[in-house]
Amino acid sequence: MRYRWELLNGLSRVFSLGVYLEIGVRSGLCINQIEVNVKHGVDIARKRQEDFPGVILHHLHSDRFFEELDSEARFDLIFIDGCHSEGQVSRDISNSLGRLSNGGFVVCHDCNPKTQDMMALNRNGECWQAVVQLRISEPNVRVVTFDFDHGLSVICLDQVRRAFNVSEDWRNWNWLNQHRQEALNLVPDSFFPAAIKAETP
Ligand SMILES: C[S@@+](CC[C@H](N)C(=O)[O-])C[C@H]1O[C@@H](n2cnc3c(N)ncnc32)[C@H](O)[C@@H]1O
Repeated sequence: MRYRWELLNGLSRVFSLGVYLEIGVRSGLCINQIEVNVKHGVDIARKRQEDFPGVILHHLHSDRFFEELDSEARFDLIFIDGCHSEGQVSRDISNSLGRLSNGGFVVCHDCNPKTQDMMALNRNGECWQAVVQLRISEPNVRVVTFDFDHGLSVICLDQVRRAFNVSEDWRNWNWLNQHRQEALNLVPDSFFPAAIKAETP
Protein backbone atom coordinates (compact mmCIF):
# COMPACT_ATOMS: atom_id res chain seq x y z
CA MET A 1 0.00 0.00 0.00
CA ARG A 2 1.14 3.55 -0.68
CA TYR A 3 -1.83 5.83 -0.06
CA ARG A 4 -4.37 6.54 2.68
CA TRP A 5 -7.39 5.64 0.54
CA GLU A 6 -5.92 2.15 -0.06
CA LEU A 7 -5.85 1.54 3.70
CA LEU A 8 -9.32 3.05 4.20
CA ASN A 9 -10.81 0.98 1.36
CA GLY A 10 -8.99 -2.11 2.69
CA LEU A 11 -10.54 -1.58 6.14
CA SER A 12 -13.99 -1.06 4.66
CA ARG A 13 -13.71 -4.25 2.56
CA VAL A 14 -12.23 -6.54 5.25
CA PHE A 15 -14.53 -5.34 8.05
CA SER A 16 -17.63 -4.58 5.91
CA LEU A 17 -17.81 -0.90 6.90
CA GLY A 18 -20.57 1.15 5.28
CA VAL A 19 -20.72 4.64 6.76
CA TYR A 20 -17.64 6.86 6.34
CA LEU A 21 -16.81 10.29 7.78
CA GLU A 22 -13.81 12.39 6.75
CA ILE A 23 -12.79 15.43 8.79
CA GLY A 24 -10.97 17.84 6.46
CA VAL A 25 -11.65 16.95 2.82
CA ARG A 26 -9.77 19.77 1.00
CA SER A 27 -9.98 18.94 -2.75
CA GLY A 28 -11.61 15.52 -2.32
CA LEU A 29 -8.50 13.58 -3.32
CA CYS A 30 -9.12 11.00 -0.60
CA ILE A 31 -12.89 10.99 0.02
CA ASN A 32 -13.71 10.76 -3.69
CA GLN A 33 -11.81 7.46 -3.85
CA ILE A 34 -13.51 5.84 -0.86
CA GLU A 35 -15.80 2.96 -1.81
CA VAL A 36 -18.57 2.76 0.83
CA ASN A 37 -22.35 3.21 0.83
CA VAL A 38 -22.55 6.51 2.71
CA LYS A 39 -19.89 9.25 2.83
CA HIS A 40 -19.92 12.38 5.00
CA GLY A 41 -17.27 15.10 4.56
CA VAL A 42 -16.62 17.94 7.04
CA ASP A 43 -14.56 21.03 6.19
CA ILE A 44 -14.46 24.58 7.52
CA ALA A 45 -13.91 25.83 3.97
CA ARG A 46 -16.94 25.91 1.66
CA LYS A 47 -16.79 23.29 -1.11
CA ARG A 48 -18.70 22.87 -4.37
CA GLN A 49 -21.03 19.87 -4.24
CA GLU A 50 -20.21 19.00 -7.88
CA ASP A 51 -16.57 18.34 -6.86
CA PHE A 52 -17.76 15.76 -4.31
CA PRO A 53 -20.13 13.36 -6.06
CA GLY A 54 -22.13 11.25 -3.63
CA VAL A 55 -20.67 12.98 -0.56
CA ILE A 56 -22.88 14.59 2.10
CA LEU A 57 -20.94 17.80 2.77
CA HIS A 58 -20.92 19.69 6.08
CA HIS A 59 -19.37 23.15 5.98
CA LEU A 60 -18.33 23.79 9.56
CA HIS A 61 -15.62 23.35 12.18
CA SER A 62 -15.24 19.74 13.29
CA ASP A 63 -16.02 20.70 16.93
CA ARG A 64 -19.35 22.19 15.84
CA PHE A 65 -20.08 19.24 13.58
CA PHE A 66 -19.89 16.86 16.56
CA GLU A 67 -21.82 19.26 18.84
CA GLU A 68 -24.71 19.52 16.38
CA LEU A 69 -24.77 15.86 15.36
CA ASP A 70 -27.95 13.89 15.93
CA SER A 71 -27.58 11.90 19.16
CA GLU A 72 -28.22 8.62 17.28
CA ALA A 73 -25.64 9.20 14.51
CA ARG A 74 -22.84 6.63 14.28
CA PHE A 75 -20.01 6.03 11.78
CA ASP A 76 -18.11 2.84 10.88
CA LEU A 77 -14.94 4.50 9.65
CA ILE A 78 -13.74 8.01 10.53
CA PHE A 79 -10.71 9.58 8.87
CA ILE A 80 -9.21 12.54 10.78
CA ASP A 81 -7.26 14.96 8.58
CA GLY A 82 -8.28 18.51 9.61
CA CYS A 83 -6.27 20.89 11.80
CA HIS A 84 -2.99 19.29 12.93
CA SER A 85 -2.55 20.83 16.41
CA GLU A 86 -2.42 18.31 19.26
CA GLY A 87 -5.45 19.87 20.96
CA GLN A 88 -7.64 19.72 17.86
CA VAL A 89 -6.56 16.21 16.82
CA SER A 90 -7.17 14.99 20.38
CA ARG A 91 -10.67 16.50 20.35
CA ASP A 92 -11.38 15.04 16.90
CA ILE A 93 -10.22 11.59 18.09
CA SER A 94 -12.23 11.76 21.30
CA ASN A 95 -15.39 12.98 19.54
CA SER A 96 -14.92 10.32 16.84
CA LEU A 97 -14.52 7.47 19.33
CA GLY A 98 -17.79 8.61 20.92
CA ARG A 99 -19.57 8.28 17.55
CA LEU A 100 -18.05 5.01 16.39
CA SER A 101 -20.27 2.02 15.71
CA ASN A 102 -19.37 -1.37 17.21
CA GLY A 103 -16.34 -2.76 15.42
CA GLY A 104 -15.59 0.58 13.74
CA PHE A 105 -12.26 2.37 13.27
CA VAL A 106 -10.81 5.85 13.53
CA VAL A 107 -7.85 6.52 11.25
CA CYS A 108 -5.60 9.51 11.83
CA HIS A 109 -3.38 10.90 9.05
CA ASP A 110 0.15 12.42 9.33
CA CYS A 111 1.14 10.57 12.50
CA ASN A 112 4.74 9.71 11.64
CA PRO A 113 6.83 12.81 10.79
CA LYS A 114 10.18 11.64 9.45
CA THR A 115 12.09 14.91 9.92
CA GLN A 116 11.89 17.73 12.45
CA ASP A 117 10.69 20.10 9.69
CA MET A 118 7.70 17.84 9.10
CA MET A 119 6.49 18.61 12.63
CA ALA A 120 5.41 22.11 11.46
CA LEU A 121 1.66 22.63 11.91
CA ASN A 122 1.09 23.12 8.16
CA ARG A 123 2.73 19.73 7.51
CA ASN A 124 2.39 16.62 9.74
CA GLY A 125 2.10 18.87 12.79
CA GLU A 126 1.34 17.40 16.20
CA CYS A 127 -0.87 14.49 15.17
CA TRP A 128 1.68 12.02 16.58
CA GLN A 129 1.44 13.76 19.99
CA ALA A 130 -2.33 13.31 20.02
CA VAL A 131 -1.87 9.58 19.32
CA VAL A 132 0.77 9.12 22.03
CA GLN A 133 -1.34 11.13 24.52
CA LEU A 134 -4.35 8.95 23.68
CA ARG A 135 -2.33 5.80 24.40
CA ILE A 136 -1.15 7.27 27.73
CA SER A 137 -4.58 8.43 28.93
CA GLU A 138 -6.98 5.86 27.45
CA PRO A 139 -6.12 2.23 28.21
CA ASN A 140 -9.12 0.81 26.35
CA VAL A 141 -7.93 1.71 22.87
CA ARG A 142 -5.80 -0.25 20.49
CA VAL A 143 -3.50 1.70 18.12
CA VAL A 144 -1.57 0.40 15.13
CA THR A 145 0.32 2.84 12.86
CA PHE A 146 1.07 1.97 9.25
CA ASP A 147 4.32 3.44 8.00
CA PHE A 148 3.32 4.96 4.65
CA ASP A 149 1.69 8.17 3.40
CA HIS A 150 3.06 10.15 6.40
CA GLY A 151 1.88 7.57 8.93
CA LEU A 152 -1.69 6.31 9.38
CA SER A 153 -2.75 5.44 12.93
CA VAL A 154 -5.67 3.04 13.11
CA ILE A 155 -7.52 3.33 16.42
CA CYS A 156 -10.28 1.12 17.79
CA LEU A 157 -11.97 0.62 21.12
CA ASP A 158 -10.97 -2.57 22.89
CA GLN A 159 -11.99 -4.56 25.98
CA VAL A 160 -8.34 -5.25 26.81
CA ARG A 161 -6.66 -2.61 28.98
CA ARG A 162 -3.17 -1.63 27.79
CA ALA A 163 -1.00 0.58 29.98
CA PHE A 164 1.32 2.88 28.04
CA ASN A 165 3.61 4.87 30.30
CA VAL A 166 6.10 7.57 29.42
CA SER A 167 8.17 8.97 32.27
CA GLU A 168 10.31 11.58 30.54
CA ASP A 169 9.50 14.78 28.65
CA TRP A 170 8.24 13.31 25.37
CA ARG A 171 6.74 16.16 23.30
CA ASN A 172 9.86 16.77 21.23
CA TRP A 173 11.60 15.59 18.08
CA ASN A 174 14.48 13.73 19.81
CA TRP A 175 12.10 11.60 21.85
CA LEU A 176 9.94 10.76 18.85
CA ASN A 177 12.95 9.89 16.75
CA GLN A 178 14.29 7.51 19.42
CA HIS A 179 10.94 5.97 20.37
CA ARG A 180 8.74 6.11 17.24
CA GLN A 181 8.50 2.33 16.90
CA GLU A 182 6.92 1.67 20.32
CA ALA A 183 5.30 5.13 20.68
CA LEU A 184 3.18 4.72 17.54
CA ASN A 185 3.14 0.89 17.45
CA LEU A 186 4.50 1.03 13.90
CA VAL A 187 3.82 -1.91 11.62
CA PRO A 188 4.72 -2.47 7.96
CA ASP A 189 1.79 -2.37 5.55
CA SER A 190 2.40 -6.03 4.66
CA PHE A 191 0.90 -6.75 8.13
CA PHE A 192 -2.53 -5.52 6.98
CA PRO A 193 -5.07 -6.82 7.92
CA ALA A 194 -3.43 -9.24 10.38
CA ALA A 195 -2.09 -6.43 12.59
CA ILE A 196 -5.61 -5.08 13.03
CA LYS A 197 -7.45 -8.38 13.21
CA ALA A 198 -5.00 -9.76 15.78
CA GLU A 199 -6.65 -8.37 18.88
CA THR A 200 -9.76 -6.49 17.82
CA PRO A 201 -12.91 -7.76 19.56
C1 LIG B 1 -4.79 18.27 5.01
S1 LIG B 1 -6.24 18.92 4.30
C2 LIG B 1 -7.24 17.47 4.06
C3 LIG B 1 -6.79 16.57 2.94
C4 LIG B 1 -7.74 15.45 2.60
N1 LIG B 1 -8.21 14.74 3.77
C5 LIG B 1 -7.08 14.46 1.67
O1 LIG B 1 -6.68 13.37 2.11
O2 LIG B 1 -6.91 14.77 0.48
C6 LIG B 1 -6.98 19.68 5.70
C7 LIG B 1 -8.38 20.22 5.48
O3 LIG B 1 -8.97 20.36 6.77
C8 LIG B 1 -9.75 21.53 6.82
N2 LIG B 1 -9.83 21.87 8.25
C9 LIG B 1 -8.83 22.33 9.05
N3 LIG B 1 -9.26 22.42 10.32
C10 LIG B 1 -10.54 21.97 10.35
C11 LIG B 1 -11.52 21.82 11.36
N4 LIG B 1 -11.26 22.08 12.65
N5 LIG B 1 -12.74 21.34 11.02
C12 LIG B 1 -13.02 21.05 9.73
N6 LIG B 1 -12.12 21.17 8.72
C13 LIG B 1 -10.90 21.63 9.02
C14 LIG B 1 -9.04 22.53 5.92
O4 LIG B 1 -9.95 23.49 5.41
C15 LIG B 1 -8.47 21.59 4.82
O5 LIG B 1 -9.35 21.50 3.71
